[in-house]
Amino acid sequence: MNLRGRNFLKLKDFTPEEIKYLIDLSAELKHKKKQGIMHDELKGKNIVLIFEKTSTRTRCSFEVAAHDLGMHVTYLDPSGSQIGNKESIRDTARVLGRMYDGIEYRGYGQDIVEELAAYAGVPVWNGLTNEFHPTQMIADMLTVKEKIGHFEGVKFVYMGDARYNMGNSLMVTCAKLGMDFVACTSRAYFPEQDLVDYCREIARENKGSITLTEDVSEGTKDADVIYTDVWVSMGEPDEVWASRIKELMPYQVNQKVMENASKTAIFMHCLPAFHDLETTIGKEIYEKFGLMEMEVTNEVFESSRSVVFDEAENRMHSIKAIMYATLR
Ligand code: CP
Ligand code: NVA
Repeated sequence: MNLRGRNFLKLKDFTPEEIKYLIDLSAELKHKKKQGIMHDELKGKNIVLIFEKTSTRTRCSFEVAAHDLGMHVTYLDPSGSQIGNKESIRDTARVLGRMYDGIEYRGYGQDIVEELAAYAGVPVWNGLTNEFHPTQMIADMLTVKEKIGHFEGVKFVYMGDARYNMGNSLMVTCAKLGMDFVACTSRAYFPEQDLVDYCREIARENKGSITLTEDVSEGTKDADVIYTDVWVSMGEPDEVWASRIKELMPYQVNQKVMENASKTAIFMHCLPAFHDLETTIGKEIYEKFGLMEMEVTNEVFESSRSVVFDEAENRMHSIKAIMYATLR
């Protein structure tokens, strides 16, 4: 398998074999890290991280992974460069492509990261856009592989805002890996029909399926994975909280949902999560709407079914695999 020189912008661009290769490479690099086996095979290379939205996991994963591989890193925060204000994406791409071996970009529209990749001349990795979050997918599927052992036939249920980056990406990835993907949410939050049609076609080729349902009891019945994400994503206006809470509360992941799922079901979340009052936004929501937890209850989040911190750790191993595969 040779992914050298490839961009990593969305899972639609990758075959099931390429995706499985990246998952296996992540596992291999994780093993090396745990065993203390050096793997600084990209010594002498430089990468730049552009973040137009905030991050904990993705930024730290890129930095630690790059250092483990022997690379140097430049971090550009949302205000620390000319991007967008004084310099176009196309010009930025042509400048950074002359200095760096690879570019990570987290921002708004998918068209921006696609344009960056078209002009950079070096691999570009999508660290999250409104539409897709592809690096998260390799970490999530590594976690599924570790916990469940296989992909085919796994009933993977996503609850909440299924038309944003996480819902879209998971639907594509599950289709590619022959899983049974269910978006269990209010109709207004179903993914766009074009993407659903594309995923149904891919799922059919891989013996998987795509289901959209508003029925929680039917949707989560015997599920192997229950997945959710924040109800309001980065970059969305605060005004949408009221309607999101009203419309998505029936799709909160709680004990009842987990009891309806398979006995061995796992709970997953890309994080950060609103499951208690330990955050500024969590407190504000409590004061305004009286809610102590949102997309997932604290009980489920802290339960033995919850694999969210294994998932978070896997971000680092999988981002390392993506960089290694595309730069070596
Ligand atoms: N899951 C995820 O992308 O987390 P960060 O926003 O902290 O990078
Ligand atoms: N949907 C979330 C994912 C965060 C990792 C967001 O875009 O804010």
